[in-house]
Amino acid sequence: MDLCGKFLTSASVGKLMNDKKIPTSKWQRGAITGMTTARIGLKHLGHLGSTALSREKVQKQALHEAEIGKILINAFMQLRGTALKVAQMMSMELDMLPDAIRRELAKACSQVTPLNRAHIRKVFLNEFGQAPEQVFKSFEADAFAAASLGQVHRAVLKSGEIVAVKIQYPGIAASIRNDVQLVRGIMKTVSKGTSYLPDWEIIDSVLNDVQAQLEQEVNYVQEAANTDWFRQKNQMPSIHIPLVYEDYSSEKILVTQLMPGKHIDAWLEDEPEQEARNHYGQLLMNMFSHHLYDLGVLHADPHPGNFLFNPEQGISLLDFGCIQKLKPGFPQTLVKLCTRDPEKIFYAYQTQGIIRQDLSFEEFEHGFFPLIEPIQNWMSMPFQTAEFDFALLPPMPQKHTQNMKYAVKQVGEVRQDQVFFDRSFLGLLSLLRRMKAKIVTQGLLRDN
Ligand SMILES: Nc1ncnc2c1ncn2[C@@H]1O[C@H](COP(=O)(O)OP(=O)(O)O)[C@@H](O)[C@H]1O
Ligand SMILES: [Mg+2]
Repeated sequence: MDLCGKFLTSASVGKLMNDKKIPTSKWQRGAITGMTTARIGLKHLGHLGSTALSREKVQKQALHEAEIGKILINAFMQLRGTALKVAQMMSMELDMLPDAIRRELAKACSQVTPLNRAHIRKVFLNEFGQAPEQVFKSFEADAFAAASLGQVHRAVLKSGEIVAVKIQYPGIAASIRNDVQLVRGIMKTVSKGTSYLPDWEIIDSVLNDVQAQLEQEVNYVQEAANTDWFRQKNQMPSIHIPLVYEDYSSEKILVTQLMPGKHIDAWLEDEPEQEARNHYGQLLMNMFSHHLYDLGVLHADPHPGNFLFNPEQGISLLDFGCIQKLKPGFPQTLVKLCTRDPEKIFYAYQTQGIIRQDLSFEEFEHGFFPLIEPIQNWMSMPFQTAEFDFALLPPMPQKHTQNMKYAVKQVGEVRQDQVFFDRSFLGLLSLLRRMKAKIVTQGLLRDN
């Protein structure tokens, strides 16, 4: 479909971003994958549990895991393109899958064959009726970066601007549903034969989330509109958001201003001074707070590749494929969640509908709260003091709870904004931890 020139205006994006009604049943199942997951540590439980296992049992379990690993890897390696991506995304979400599977899948995905010149030409002809060398003054045939559903090339517009051209692998949009079904089929077959994989319900719900995310990311027209919206709303001069060249973009091609800067890995390799760590860390944290409280919309893809550290002390924020409007009032409750006071947390959870409405405070305090306390404390640690040194943040607690069924029953409605908030927030904390940044956290969570 040629959507060139039919771009969404800011007003229509606003409309699109209005609270979408998500079928409850779906996000109910999502209870197992979203914020609640992180809070309760459900992701890590499943088959392992916390009780001490005998040596013999541990060995038997390791053997079983290796077996399942082999079966799954063999099955997944037959997959191509998005199906492989689906398998990888699923394995990332289900971090209780045996490590061997996760490693193999990560490897497989970084080996996706790049599009050659002929493919690229075909995409351009389909989208614009013109080859890249007709569209641009110059176009680099080799990609300089990989995108999750495509690849990114440098080019120069006829008007002279240097741009990044993100090209989507052909056929992806059409195949998402089928590919998810394919992976679902494999997982169903394998999980039937073993008790060493997560419950089928969890796998199924993760696959639903993966599908929803892919369907959002595959739409570059929406991404262009999102980018534009953030660029217009951004009030932080040190945060740079690329200009979108709408006339050059379509559903499968996104052309943006080429932004300067390094990915975090390259930046860390240069062993930056503590002052620089603090500066960039503070910027990232302030940006999160700005999005939460001033815009009410989150950039919800915390992949480290989406932040470029600029030489001029700024950060380029890329990739608006996944953004999330927050329910009014939600960001303001975070202050209460950071108090560590069970009563305040109880009321915040209740107002937000995170716990079931008929859960009494007594039951919350003695039954549910102890389960979520370790992760709750971990997430709020940076906000207990006016300043926080992320070098001192321990790894996220990986609580194995035997009480999953109980915990899930206490959960109320799970909304998409909570799920995405959680992902962004955990992503930010882990980024700041890697940066070993010392930053001011006072005042960043607000109740107004
Ligand atoms: N405007 C841009 N300027 C500089 N680099 C870019 C730009 N757009 C994309 N890139 C590079 O391409 C990578 C993938 O692009 P991104 O938009 O994040 O794709 P995806 O949505 O698939 O993650 C980025 O991590 C970055 O290295
Ligand atoms: Mg990205």
